[in-house]
Amino acid sequence: MRVLVIGSGGREHALAVGLAADPTVDFLAAAPGNPGIAQVAELHEVTATDPAAVAALAVELAADLVVVGPEAPLVAGVADAVRAKGIACFGPSAAAAQLEGSKAFAKDVMAAAGVPTARSYACTTPDEVSHALDDLGAPHVVKNDGLAAGKGVVVTGDRSAAERHAADCGRVVIEEYLPGPEVSLFVVTDGTAAVPLMPAQDFKRLADGDEGPNTGGMGAYAPLAWAPDDLVPRVLAETVEPTLAEMRRRGTPFAGLLYVGLALTPDGPKVIEFNARFGDPETQVVLALLETPLAGLLNAAATGTLAGLPPLRWREGSAITVVVASKNYPGTPRTGDVIEGAEVPGVIHAGTARRDDGALISAGGRVLSVTATGPDLAAARDAAYALVAGVRLDGAQYRKDIALGAVEGRIKL
Ligand code: AMP
Ligand code: GLY
Repeated sequence: MRVLVIGSGGREHALAVGLAADPTVDFLAAAPGNPGIAQVAELHEVTATDPAAVAALAVELAADLVVVGPEAPLVAGVADAVRAKGIACFGPSAAAAQLEGSKAFAKDVMAAAGVPTARSYACTTPDEVSHALDDLGAPHVVKNDGLAAGKGVVVTGDRSAAERHAADCGRVVIEEYLPGPEVSLFVVTDGTAAVPLMPAQDFKRLADGDEGPNTGGMGAYAPLAWAPDDLVPRVLAETVEPTLAEMRRRGTPFAGLLYVGLALTPDGPKVIEFNARFGDPETQVVLALLETPLAGLLNAAATGTLAGLPPLRWREGSAITVVVASKNYPGTPRTGDVIEGAEVPGVIHAGTARRDDGALISAGGRVLSVTATGPDLAAARDAAYALVAGVRLDGAQYRKDIALGAVEGRIKL
């Protein structure tokens, strides 16, 4: 099978590593890719959000399967354009990607499908904002309606900060605060059949102890030993199946990766958000543990044959990833710093680039996701932090407490 991966981040590097390891893949390309992905795939230039350009590249490479990593190309209609050329594509249509592209759309689908989630209001005027904040109380959760690369959400006890964020965004969803540990559940689907992957936990805040601003994600681990045994079947029954049915009913079936972001509240798992693609950096840990060949799984979802796939197989043990971010992330990250010690197995590249003289340099906010497995979570953690210690990047920021609460048994339901 000839496979083309679209995107250039850590998630796409993890996907490329998984696809390259699938014996049915005899050609792997990525566009635009990054220097880490270049170790396993042939890189091509493309504007990932240009549907016609991506479709043309897929034709030129005679791809059998295109895997779209990030949300922006999906929302722009890249999967539709690829499928229009008769090429299988892993990723939802533009219409179905609205589950991520618009928080208000996602809330509407959840309401129609009876999915457990936070009560919410879609607001545009200061009066609507004020009424929603009064009704729902503090802590306030104010979400930019559109795509914001994981940085459009403010959770605050400070009412004027909530009002300011709403005013800055224009159109927002304001919702009830959901208490409880967060879980990311990825579901591979062809629109009807749904195959859950292993739940993972992401660390959204910049600093240790969940302090500091929200980011795209500073680390992750799996499996979640503390999660309730019925978590996955319950979320499939209460959330995933009804959502897929509602999307089919609307004539816009969702096929690809449904990312269910959950809070495990005292009243059960409730949806914090849907995304229309693999999460980053959770993908790095989930795929590190997946034994089933990845291209076969994604191709089955892309061709409507998921129901015939044998059950997934998983490796024993645990995986963890620690994101190394650049100075000033998530504000205006400094780029162009030389990186050393990052061209080794387990160091997944996100925001990296190759300078003209061949040096590896930082090129984004989240630069690397340093990933390791081990027989248990403590061993995986030690291995990942040993790899981090071997990386040199001036001004690097990373959390020292990824998976620490789980190792120490401190996560309470
Ligand atoms: P989102 O982009 O919707 O995932 O939001 C980013 C982060 O904000 C989430 O991972 C949560 O940590 C937090 N968050 C979002 N919505 C809520 C909510 N209703 N209650 C509590 N925390 C939330
Ligand atoms: N890890 C959060 C996300 O991918 O949105």
